[in-house]
Amino acid sequence: MCGIVGYVGQKEKKEILLDGLQELEYRGYDSAGIAIIENRQLKHFKAIGKLENLRAKTKDYESDGFGVSIGHTRWATHGKPTELNAHPHLGEYSFVVHNGIIENYQELKVELQEQGVNFLSQTDTETIVHLFESYCEKKGDGFDSFTKTINKLEGAYATLLVTEVQPDTIFFAKNGSPMLIGFDGEDVYFASSDTPIIGMATEVYYLEDGEYGYAKDGEVKLFDANGEKNFTKKPLATDKAMAQKDGYRFFMEKEIYEQSDVMNDTMMGRVLDDRVEFEELGVELFEGINNIKICACGTSYHSALTGSYLLERIAKIPCQVEIASEFRYKEPLLKDDTLFITISQSGETADTLEALKMAKRAGLKSLSICNVDNSSIVRESDRAILTRAGIEKGVASTKAFATQTMVLWMLTLYVAELKNSVSKEKLQSELDAMRHTPKALLVTDRLHEKLHRLSKRYLHGHGFFFIGRDIFFPLALEGALKLKEISYLHAEGYPAGEMKHGPIALADSELFTIALMPRSLHYDKIKSNVEELSARDSTILAISPEPFELADDFIQTKYDSHPMLEFFEMMVVTQLLSLEVSIRLGNDVDMPRNLAKSVTVE
Ligand code: M6R
Repeated sequence: MCGIVGYVGQKEKKEILLDGLQELEYRGYDSAGIAIIENRQLKHFKAIGKLENLRAKTKDYESDGFGVSIGHTRWATHGKPTELNAHPHLGEYSFVVHNGIIENYQELKVELQEQGVNFLSQTDTETIVHLFESYCEKKGDGFDSFTKTINKLEGAYATLLVTEVQPDTIFFAKNGSPMLIGFDGEDVYFASSDTPIIGMATEVYYLEDGEYGYAKDGEVKLFDANGEKNFTKKPLATDKAMAQKDGYRFFMEKEIYEQSDVMNDTMMGRVLDDRVEFEELGVELFEGINNIKICACGTSYHSALTGSYLLERIAKIPCQVEIASEFRYKEPLLKDDTLFITISQSGETADTLEALKMAKRAGLKSLSICNVDNSSIVRESDRAILTRAGIEKGVASTKAFATQTMVLWMLTLYVAELKNSVSKEKLQSELDAMRHTPKALLVTDRLHEKLHRLSKRYLHGHGFFFIGRDIFFPLALEGALKLKEISYLHAEGYPAGEMKHGPIALADSELFTIALMPRSLHYDKIKSNVEELSARDSTILAISPEPFELADDFIQTKYDSHPMLEFFEMMVVTQLLSLEVSIRLGNDVDMPRNLAKSVTVE
């Protein structure tokens, strides 16, 4: 995810920016840049790859005396990770950095191009600086021009702008993406999270959506739609490690809570009023395609399985899913009317990458669904859809799974429309449900507290069975994987209807059944399966919108109208259950034993 830093004052600016960006490295990025104005001189540097590349480029430069400065680490969304696409973006005499997505950038870009403006990058961000300069016309009032610019933007943004027209001022605005202002009694700092300014600033103000303004002479003027406003600073935290986790105990916990927000990023610009659009895909990718094969490992395999139900049911296209390590050695029959999809959070998983290479050698078209742009799998694929989950630090994947599943749901609707296999009414109802997903992913204090209390009853026993039917079967697999990864307790995911074909022999009071019982999909069927287990004295934790009298423990979910909303809500419950069990057992939640985040060996 992108990071922003800014500083206005007397101190050496290059080091403040580079050190600040370094603190944001953990969020992931693929290029970085800084811009500084001092003595009315604009200087800027950009580099792709790691910050050390930017450090190398700036080694002979030292800023001196009063000035304004902005810096950025970019995680590519619109346009490849190139120097031209890296921030800060330049107009004729101004620079801008931005986090988020400007949804209406295409129409703004066309308007500006018609006025003769030349765009250098493929980014949405560049529109901000050109729009500003079109109002400012070199001599105008910087703040008035900035206000007009902000009023034109739709979407999410946190942005900083500096201009030679007012070389003592940083303009800022926030809407939907985080931004804060730090103070040390003399100078003013900006950042997209606490860590870059800890140790320099002593007080902080966290901007609210819709706020904007400017910093000049050590002071900040703040505005919103109602005009100028006062604000109260707070003492700034001093612990950097804690700040990186935004106050959560573990990265995994933070990532579970982030899911609602990142889902908005995943859908942004793709889920439109009447259809799904992927600007990274073209119709030619699907020409001559009658079949889809998806290959992945671990959690990504579970999202693939979920996707296969959706693709067959809604898009009416046959879809098979393979575990990449199995696929590689089974001498698979590959036909060129098959689209080969790989799914990977890291984009570096060796088995998945090799499977992709095999498919390519067999002449298949390829598409990857990945969280890391420019990763090996993305580079190797004909086309890629980025999940936009932001960097995932917890080894146990959470938000990556959620966003992969969302991309597959969106892809299903995209293919369904392309193949004319979905009615307008059905498409509309899927899109409506999709827009509700961020709500279904919200973690309430009540839910978290309940799982915290329940977890103490699930620290022993001889095993867990997570059971579900249909798309809730892959969710059961994923729930079990999460629990075993971080609790080291034995857990299996099973199709609920299969229990009677063998595993039910294990049932007794020390066997814990986590039953996923959605109301919108096969409720009566799964209910009978759970009753069979209850009759054999298995301890049942039921997760359902429907009260279930045989449950020993019960988590009542809210959504019951659409299977995918039930899916995402139940997913959060299973993630929190694993987290709380693991914490009670005293395990290292973020770095479980024997596991690595990126599995680059066979
Ligand atoms: O980076 P990938 O998605 O390709 O990784 C695949 C698996 O190694 C990964 O999902 C693993 O199962 C995680 N630890 C799950 O939490």
